[in-house]
Amino acid sequence: MNLILLGPPGAGKGTQAKRLEERHGLVQLSTGDMLRAQVASGSPLGLKAKEIMQAGKLVPDDVMIAMIADRISQPDCARGFILDGFPRTVPQAEALDRMLTEKGLKLDQVIEMKVDDAALVDRITGRFTCARCGRGYHDRFNRPKDDGVCDACGGTEFTRRADDNAETVSTRLAAYHAQTAPILPYYRERGVLREVDGMAEIDVVTEQIEALLAGR
Ligand code: AP5
Ligand code: MG
Ligand code: ZN
Repeated sequence: MNLILLGPPGAGKGTQAKRLEERHGLVQLSTGDMLRAQVASGSPLGLKAKEIMQAGKLVPDDVMIAMIADRISQPDCARGFILDGFPRTVPQAEALDRMLTEKGLKLDQVIEMKVDDAALVDRITGRFTCARCGRGYHDRFNRPKDDGVCDACGGTEFTRRADDNAETVSTRLAAYHAQTAPILPYYRERGVLREVDGMAEIDVVTEQIEALLAGR
């Protein structure tokens, strides 16, 4: 099963992708996480991406398309994957179609997570992530069961993203509406677009996604 989770910054793509990974053995392909790994390693690409990400703008299409083409060719992706953060522009969506056709793969569902803009700033500014396993949390909506200890791996170090501040969030939202939302009609025309209410509680969103995958 190959899926896309589509939605604005803070919609819950990463949160739900991690759950799908655990429940269905799919591979999460988060282009944001891949870029942050490049930034952390100080690679030439990371140096270039760092400023763009901190400004809340999109990294150029050719860079992102090459990154996903390389990742999708790795053997673990044959189990099925969840794209989280890609495609983000119409040219990226078209390039993805070409890649999948070449590999004889198909896209099963594109799941749009609908969330009001007003809720997103709160979600993003309260987010923190386990430094060891990448599990995401929130100061108010999604705390670990034991304060300061990751539920998933027992890690005690957490990080906050450099782009998770109110100013950058507004640029990221504007980029979503201007550059990413136009891919919704692209997938609607192809009959693969579904939607879930991303304003619901995290467990309820998971149930909605499970229902879509089960064809309910
Ligand atoms: P990326 O890392 O993809 O960030 P994003 O799209 O802005 O999305 P987020 O990761 O912020 O949100 P999310 O939907 O994963 O939400 P989460 O589950 O964490 O991209 C970062 C940057 O990289 C981009 O700005 C761009 O520069 C670059 N980039 C990446 N891909 C690119 C591409 N393809 N092309 C060009 N540039 C690219 O949830 C958020 C918080 O809310 C968490 O704290 C969570 O616990 C909480 N939460 C989740 N669900 C709920 C709920 N239902 N109710 C209450 N709280 C919830
Ligand atoms: Mg994310
Ligand atoms: Zn952890």
